[in-house]
Amino acid sequence: MNNVNELLRSLKSLSGPFLSFEREELPETPGELFLQWLNLAIENEVKEPHAMTLSTVDADGCPDARVLILKNMIGDSFYFASSVESRKGQQLKCNPKAALTFYWPILGKQIRLRGTVEDMGDEAGAADFRDRSAEARVVALTGNQSRELVREEELEYSLAEQREKISRNPDITTLNWRLYAMNVREAEFWQGDTNRKHTRIQYYWSEGQWNHRRLWP
Ligand SMILES: Cc1cc2nc3c(=O)[nH]c(=O)nc-3n(C[C@H](O)[C@H](O)[C@H](O)COP(=O)(O)O)c2cc1C
Repeated sequence: MNNVNELLRSLKSLSGPFLSFEREELPETPGELFLQWLNLAIENEVKEPHAMTLSTVDADGCPDARVLILKNMIGDSFYFASSVESRKGQQLKCNPKAALTFYWPILGKQIRLRGTVEDMGDEAGAADFRDRSAEARVVALTGNQSRELVREEELEYSLAEQREKISRNPDITTLNWRLYAMNVREAEFWQGDTNRKHTRIQYYWSEGQWNHRRLWP
């Protein structure tokens, strides 16, 4: 075996201890269970519990994924914000089907969500933009997310330009910054077990309502 394999085998995963999944009183909707788990993550000081992986597919059907921040959750909708010109923005335009994944290692919890993403429109994008920190607004205003950056000076020049624009017009926004909502139609709550007898509960939308079932580990 090579060294990388040995190195990886020496690392622990799912070492726990973890709480068991209380399956007796499952809420009716995945949104409610998500909130329960999120609160648990916050109580247990999980770092950045609102960081999640957004998976999309490109025009050729090739998957792509990156980490984003969850901005809101209302009912079955999970919100995130990004640039429409970015790679993910273009992919979502072409195919709005997506997935979101959370993993909180100290709790041994994974949440998987699948659904369809909608652009919430100009005003919602502008409102999210206005909520961003000054430097986050500066970077978003450059508007080139995911394009090739050839020279450092180009970035510095653009950042200075955007800072100047904001100082002249503090209310400036950009149509490039969008708020997206993924309407969830399938969700899985996975509680890891140190003995690998993991508990998985899947919520699925059928005939206009949420149902749930247990999955084999
Ligand atoms: C913890 C964390 C949070 C992030 N939050 C965001 C975010 O809310 N919006 C965003 O556009 N990019 C965010 N990023 C950067 C993305 O992962 C990604 O690099 C960027 O959006 C470009 O992705 P794309 O080329 O697939 O479009 C975050 C990265 C990390 C590691």
